[in-house]
Amino acid sequence: MKDLHDLDALSDLLHRRHSCRAFKPDAVPDDVIERIVETAARAPSWCNSQPWQVIVTRPEETDRLREKLLANATSPEGGKPDMPFPTAYTGVHQERRRTCGWQLYDAVGVQKGDRAGSAKQAMENFRFFGAPHTAILTSGAELGPYGAMDCGGFILAFALAAEAMGLGCIPQAAVASLAPLLHKEYGIPDDRMVLCAISFGYEDADHPANSFRTDRAPLSEILDWRG
Ligand SMILES: Cc1cc2nc3c(=O)[nH]c(=O)nc-3n(C[C@H](O)[C@H](O)[C@H](O)COP(=O)(O)O)c2cc1C
Repeated sequence: MKDLHDLDALSDLLHRRHSCRAFKPDAVPDDVIERIVETAARAPSWCNSQPWQVIVTRPEETDRLREKLLANATSPEGGKPDMPFPTAYTGVHQERRRTCGWQLYDAVGVQKGDRAGSAKQAMENFRFFGAPHTAILTSGAELGPYGAMDCGGFILAFALAAEAMGLGCIPQAAVASLAPLLHKEYGIPDDRMVLCAISFGYEDADHPANSFRTDRAPLSEILDWRG
């Protein structure tokens, strides 16, 4: 069997990575960002269509965009996502969603029933959790869900590359709820779907929002052997 060194390295990155929800303000050098994007673009895609494109903001532009999103987050003109959000979370999906939601609320001190507190935390999405950079991820609209599936690989590869370069990041579908505004701001044509943002930067490791880790279902709930 091949030396397990590579798998250990990959597993280590996967275990260390987590969604980062508080950042230091420091800018990340352009060449570091370019390496991360180049690495992420090694993700496989159907027919090698490579449907991903990212609009990456530097700190001043990130600030401008967050003001714009915050001003529009609750207005009906904000619009709707290009790709429909999940219609429901039931059963185990609902349980897991609740668990990670409560982990976050517990970490930042939002009590059960504190609607104002949970709304404030939800708005953090539109602040990009204070990240100095965000990457708006789009996919070729004609590729539909398969293009989005390919982009999922890009997101993971981006996250692992960021971790390997000492950065934190978080994919944010919430930002895609303002897709029409993003199309307008950045001249994104209608043949591209806004999928999500990936906000990133140097992690503020002491912030309570970064103090918890999500777990994963055991293999028995994932792997179904036959034969
Ligand atoms: C496609 C995608 C979209 C996500 N959107 C959001 C989001 O809008 N807001 C948020 O706080 N977290 C978002 N997350 C982060 C998930 O909540 C997180 O990945 C999950 O709870 C597992 O935790 P971990 O990333 O720390 O391992 C998203 C993750 C993915 C992969």
